[in-house]
Amino acid sequence: MNTLKLLIGPSSNILGNRVSELMGIEKVNLTYKIFPDGESYVKIDGIKKEDLVVLVNSLSPPQDRNLFVLLQMLSVLNDIGVKEIILVIPYLAYARQDKMFLPGEAISSRIVSKVLSSFYFKKIFVVEPHSTESISFFGEKAESISATNSVLYFIKEVLKKNYVVVAPDEGRLNKVAEISKLLGSDYGWLTKSRNKYSGEVKSKIGKAINSNSEVLLFDDIVSTGGTISEAAKILKTEGVKDIDLVCIHGLFVGNAEERIKEAGVRNIFCSDTVEGKFTSFSVSREIVEKLRQMV
Ligand code: R5P
Repeated sequence: MNTLKLLIGPSSNILGNRVSELMGIEKVNLTYKIFPDGESYVKIDGIKKEDLVVLVNSLSPPQDRNLFVLLQMLSVLNDIGVKEIILVIPYLAYARQDKMFLPGEAISSRIVSKVLSSFYFKKIFVVEPHSTESISFFGEKAESISATNSVLYFIKEVLKKNYVVVAPDEGRLNKVAEISKLLGSDYGWLTKSRNKYSGEVKSKIGKAINSNSEVLLFDDIVSTGGTISEAAKILKTEGVKDIDLVCIHGLFVGNAEERIKEAGVRNIFCSDTVEGKFTSFSVSREIVEKLRQMV
């Protein structure tokens, strides 16, 4: 019999369990451990080749380990002979290196898709991929899942504020325009340039923002905090007093939190695509909606 089963990888424990509860899917037993030398071990029990398996695992930091564990899980499903495998990648790592910005650079995003695609799976869903190029490497199997509805719900029903939503760079402008239109609020943006060698960020105001507004900076990824701290500093010099941050994938590497707070950001809210200190809202509903269309 074709039974729907959910395999939750170690990097998506909270989100995976939310998906299981919302959808009422049976969870599969995963044994996962790291040997003393750092190698990871995976054992999966309770799957038959006739089953339809949904596998959820984020490629959040440590990206390379979480990618390898995902490959290990896929390998087991292929060995069992499962034909119906749906991958859900809440955060797709390496998506920012989706082209050669400088000669000689590895196109890391393409490598990730090639390595994953060396195993069989039927479909791959990626939550808010950084770029369309990054998922195009998977071909027709790939589909993105928008987190807009969960962001809107969080702003309207949980934060309950009338923000001016601000994009820290042109890359987020379309998303910010979409969110603010649905909120019925005003929006603004900054322009950003990043040094291709040092990674250092410089920003300028793109559209002036009323300094009496409560500002919500919105970004898809926060990594070193360089983009958001630079944006917040500029907003502060423009006289904006209250700045909060919503991001989808909160990586917060190194001293990102301190940088962002020191630059004047009051509150930080992130989704559960990357499970961490700032996880405040869930994208599980959007994932379940997509899965329901498939199964
Ligand atoms: C870049 O285009 C992304 O949307 C983010 O703004 C960027 O990845 C954030 O990185 P960081 O926190 O290191 O500035």
